[in-house]
Amino acid sequence: MISKFINREKERTLLEEEWGKEGGRLIILYGRRRIGKTRLLTEFVKDKENGVFYIAEDSSTQIQINGLKDKIAEFLDDSLLRTLEIKEWSQLFEYLANNMPEQRFYLIIDEFSYLIKSDKKILSVLQRLWDTTFANSPVFMVLSGSMLGLMSDMVLSYASPLYGRRTRDILLEELSFKDAKKFVTMSLRESLELYFIIGGVPEYLLKAAEYSSLNKFLEREFFSKMGYFYREPYFIISQEFKELKFYFSILNAIAYGNTKPTDIANFVGIEAKKIYPYLENLIRLGFVERQVSIFGNPKKGIYQIKDNIFDFWFNFVFKYREEIEREFFHPKKEELSSYYGKKFEDFVRREVLHHLLGYSKAGRWWHKSEEIDVVAVNESTMEIFFFECKWSDLRKKDVKWIVKELKRKAKLVKWNDGERKEKFGVIARKIEDKEEFRCDGFLVYDVEDLERVL
Ligand SMILES: Nc1ncnc2c1ncn2[C@@H]1O[C@H](COP(=O)(O)OP(=O)(O)OP(=O)(O)O)[C@@H](O)[C@H]1O
Ligand SMILES: [Mg+2]
Repeated sequence: MISKFINREKERTLLEEEWGKEGGRLIILYGRRRIGKTRLLTEFVKDKENGVFYIAEDSSTQIQINGLKDKIAEFLDDSLLRTLEIKEWSQLFEYLANNMPEQRFYLIIDEFSYLIKSDKKILSVLQRLWDTTFANSPVFMVLSGSMLGLMSDMVLSYASPLYGRRTRDILLEELSFKDAKKFVTMSLRESLELYFIIGGVPEYLLKAAEYSSLNKFLEREFFSKMGYFYREPYFIISQEFKELKFYFSILNAIAYGNTKPTDIANFVGIEAKKIYPYLENLIRLGFVERQVSIFGNPKKGIYQIKDNIFDFWFNFVFKYREEIEREFFHPKKEELSSYYGKKFEDFVRREVLHHLLGYSKAGRWWHKSEEIDVVAVNESTMEIFFFECKWSDLRKKDVKWIVKELKRKAKLVKWNDGERKEKFGVIARKIEDKEEFRCDGFLVYDVEDLERVL
């Protein structure tokens, strides 16, 4: 059964706009595995009659050429082409260039990276034909693929023959929580916890949608040898990177809480200066992100896992693989709640704060051993906000203590001292007697309040 298609309005509009323009169009669509590239393209062509949609296999060039040839022959209703023996990409694309229809048609090559992997020549062939014919033709070409590294080096980078020919790049990213929660029937609290584990990756959300309880989902799909997620992250990393071992160890290091380049390098066992190119690749591909303290030195960044599934998997599956293999693993409550706590903080900064404060500059702040989860400033009103985030149920005395600590730490934050207006707040799973704090001028929000904005 095909799932209801959720959002992707922005990408669909972009594609439709390009489709409506004149002349040849070349679109590059890329993104991590399972993110919904194929589905987006399938939805896009639903109301269009003319075109070729080819999904490449990871096989030899000859098999790939035959596959696309058959699709093109079918589209052109051309029995001659079907019988022709074609050995080179140039022959096939030249044939198409000479036999194109006059009205707009699509040529979608999904898993394009498999074609490059078997024969890089396809890039220069396409470049040549683009310049001589396709650029002024009705073709609407989409090259789509995962293996992000390959896509960006070979197709998007300056060095690629296709550089400058493409009319659009679309990087398909995870769905936001607002959309992700539409997949599942769990309570808001569980949906959030689920999101902290699998993020907004449609395929993973569909897997979770088979369960009404988060615990059951984790037990069956993560903490079991037979579970879908028992090997999935390993599979993803091995597909994306040739130097599997290094990338695997680096992600492992970061997931285990090593955030500084020197600590990461130590964990992996390589020289500190050699770690940077790997980290940069991981960032470019969206697996890792670099954070700097909001008013701190931009050169002193720390590294964190961005793609939730890897963080969770290393900390709860990979770390305990022996127990899982022997079928007696149950995650410790404290470990789970500290994991959710960390992810909740990120989530607040990324997806919640702008609903609460409107536009402002915001980030985490730290200095030496002191840290504040969220500091946000509004330059025009001279307001500065200090927030602590907690994925737990807070009693009145907990909130009072948190605010007291925030006030102490706020003095260490240098920003328009003397002129600024300070505001303090707590964002938590549940907060007792919120109204009382609000009357005293504090900003307090819990999941009940967030439900309105999420
Ligand atoms: N926006 C969406 N709404 C609902 N379901 C979606 C959406 N996007 C993707 N899906 C579903 O998620 C699953 C994975 O999507 P899809 O196969 O398109 O991903 P992909 O990016 O092509 O992955 P791969 O790189 O592994 O080929 C499919 O079952 C698809 O129907
Ligand atoms: Mg696909």
